[in-house]
Amino acid sequence: MTQDELKKAVGEAALAYVPEGEIIGVGTGSTANYFIDGLGAMRDRIKGAVASSEASAKRLAALGIRLYDLNEIEEMPVYVDGADEIDAAFCMIKGGGAALTREKIVSSVARRFVCIADASKKVDVLGRFPLPVEVIPLARAQAARALAALGGRPVWREGVVTDNGNIILDVHGLHITDPVKMESDINQIVGVVCNGLFARRSAEVLLLGTPDGVRTFNR
Ligand code: A5P
Repeated sequence: MTQDELKKAVGEAALAYVPEGEIIGVGTGSTANYFIDGLGAMRDRIKGAVASSEASAKRLAALGIRLYDLNEIEEMPVYVDGADEIDAAFCMIKGGGAALTREKIVSSVARRFVCIADASKKVDVLGRFPLPVEVIPLARAQAARALAALGGRPVWREGVVTDNGNIILDVHGLHITDPVKMESDINQIVGVVCNGLFARRSAEVLLLGTPDGVRTFNR
């Protein structure tokens, strides 16, 4: 099976976690897109969705799924999204698609985070995938220096502007053995809006696409 077929399989498997009549939190990226497409087929059985990016909002709306503003909602049963890396404790690196901040905000109000990932995303230690950090444009250089002081090699993702009007620094060369601490440490840097470590709030369920089928792991 190709990586794309594995992404499709997990995206479709996640539909089983969608309760009827509810508002669902929806992630961003190529794997989440398969979930969104499946959600379109059951749009009459859900109340609607909160999107984690403009791109996902557009895709949901095109399928006739009603969109809600997160400020209208106190809690959601489930948030479904992909990841760039996920470890054994279900801590993740996200943000390859630059949507990390809204992803973290939307997922924070969900009772259950269902991570959908192909097998290549499963790692022992996070950090081989460069860690995306969303930064206020004015703070780019000084935030980069502070990230370098934490042991990484930040690279400006030139040409990319997030949905929130900010920039992304991708931090290479990290070997993240304590993701909870690293997430907090990076959040302390002035000018950082959000970082792509999802460790303080990790996933509850992992649907992993393997050549032998979708494997389900619960935390
Ligand atoms: C988007 O900003 C990311 O967090 C994605 O969830 C992550 O990059 C996974 O993307 P793919 O599903 O496209 O691999």
